[in-house]
Amino acid sequence: MHPLEQLRDEALREIESAGDEQTLEAARVKYLGRSGSISAWGEQMKALSKDEKPIVGKLLNEVRNAVTSAIDSHAAQFRSQKESGTLSKIDISLPGTSREIGALHPLTQMWERSIEIFRRMGFALADGPDIEDEWHCFDALNTPPEHPARTEQDTFYLSDGRLLRTHTSTVQIRTMESAPPPIRVIAPGAAYRNEEINATHSAQFHQIEGLYVDEGVSVADLKGALEFFMRELFGSGTEVEFRPHYFPFTEPSLEVYVKSKALKGGEQWIEVAGSGVVHPAVFEQVNKARGDKAYDPQKWSGYAFGLGMDRLAMILFDIPDLRLFAQNDLRFLRQFA
Ligand code: PHE
Repeated sequence: MHPLEQLRDEALREIESAGDEQTLEAARVKYLGRSGSISAWGEQMKALSKDEKPIVGKLLNEVRNAVTSAIDSHAAQFRSQKESGTLSKIDISLPGTSREIGALHPLTQMWERSIEIFRRMGFALADGPDIEDEWHCFDALNTPPEHPARTEQDTFYLSDGRLLRTHTSTVQIRTMESAPPPIRVIAPGAAYRNEEINATHSAQFHQIEGLYVDEGVSVADLKGALEFFMRELFGSGTEVEFRPHYFPFTEPSLEVYVKSKALKGGEQWIEVAGSGVVHPAVFEQVNKARGDKAYDPQKWSGYAFGLGMDRLAMILFDIPDLRLFAQNDLRFLRQFA
């Protein structure tokens, strides 16, 4: 047996019998360390004859590989023992730490359901700022300075003369300013009014504005679209009623009521939207701002609506008081998870 093979067998025995990591590490240094006995053979190679060199060199490689892999596998054994020791201390019968999983706010759910229905009807999403100027909120919507909506009693004004939009109808104007007809958009968003806060009124509320401008659009299209929407939302048997009303920016103007079985206290008619056929004066204002005749009232007509999201959510989820939407009481919110 070549002395290298003897050395190998000795090393393997020692590695095998190593009872802990330190002993194993000591064996590694002893044989494979810089001045270890196997490494020393590498030095001795230089002194060998030309014939011996390849034979001993090959053997040396084999020995070094055998010893290295024995050390590695024994070290791996130590590691896995250590890990299973740690794991065995974990009591898997103990209850885990539960994580709270969030859910969408009922108003957000209401918005998502509504948007989904309008998307199926071909409406695209539009957007506008909550902080507005008087022109987009009132003048362009045919609402003159002497109109009561423009008083501070109803509207939150900023010190620079801008205001918090009192309705999402501002987005009608912004959409028409930036694109020529035909238009078919909805604009979900918040609106603000200086109101006494109670079970059915809040200073911040939420709307979906709708605007459809095309050739030959009539009040029949408006009624069809909103009836379809309400029945998709509340069920096919839902009764919808349109009552004459007044808005400066639509003519005719209609308030939309649904008869809700959902509300406690039995069936009753509840107002859920304002709507109407776009007033030609609105098109004229838009044309002036655009500097063209894109919205020629002789050619184009349209309908618009503003749906009260808070009201719709109250009906759909049977909520008696809309202040609950803003109180962040988990006992309330969990019911919609
Ligand atoms: N902007 C009106 C409101 O908030 C609703 C409305 C929108 C009416 C569009 C007609 C057309 O009361």
